[in-house]
Amino acid sequence: MVIRALVFDAYGTLYDVQSVRSLAIDLCGDKGEIITHLWRLKQLEYTWLRTLMRSYEDFWSVTRAALEFALSSVGIAPTSSLCDELMDGYLHLDLYAEAPQALESLRDHKLAILSNGSPRMLEALVRSAGIAERFTAVVSCDQVKRYKPEPACYALVEPALQISKQEVLFISSNGFDVAGAKRYGFQVAWIERTGDVPPPQDSQVGPAAFYRLIRGGAEQLGYQPDFRLKRLTDLAAVLSA
Ligand code: LAC
Repeated sequence: MVIRALVFDAYGTLYDVQSVRSLAIDLCGDKGEIITHLWRLKQLEYTWLRTLMRSYEDFWSVTRAALEFALSSVGIAPTSSLCDELMDGYLHLDLYAEAPQALESLRDHKLAILSNGSPRMLEALVRSAGIAERFTAVVSCDQVKRYKPEPACYALVEPALQISKQEVLFISSNGFDVAGAKRYGFQVAWIERTGDVPPPQDSQVGPAAFYRLIRGGAEQLGYQPDFRLKRLTDLAAVLSA
């Protein structure tokens, strides 16, 4: 099937959501690691709950509420100043190390982002990473006031890029997003970032390992990706095959 555009998920795929870890450790000490993982887990949970509840709030609000939950749950008061500092980290997340090279190798293709991020958050991210000009469109699910994997979110891509869904290669490292995009009808590449990590020896695992266990594997939802890749730089080979 011909691929006419590559559409990337943002958080966890182009941008490393764990890059707030060092800020969390600076501000919260030893609890910074577990806060980082609880924050991301709860953030996505709230996107799903708010979509099901038909009680939309934008991704900035959801991310802030998830942060307040994470801090409270480990016994740290979610003061405005602490939350403001940590939230600011979300506007300057690091790109994955291989992302600039991968985007450069794909420069002859039509590229876009489809993300839960609010327009303001996405604009800040692409601007701070200096990659805004790489994308034909940066599409926010905020337009439909729902979150992925709700099909209405993926449906934003076709009008934005003037192509049909069969011509889209959607790229995500988030298992639920891979399943949702495949269910919708895109071709899908899963960036399997945790594929090399061996299974645990016993039940004594830390927060990072637990996060990998719950979010790193292929979701058992009946929708498998077309391509399983280790890193974004592997996409060029998919396109030339
Ligand atoms: C996003 C979430 C899924 O960028 O990470 O949409």
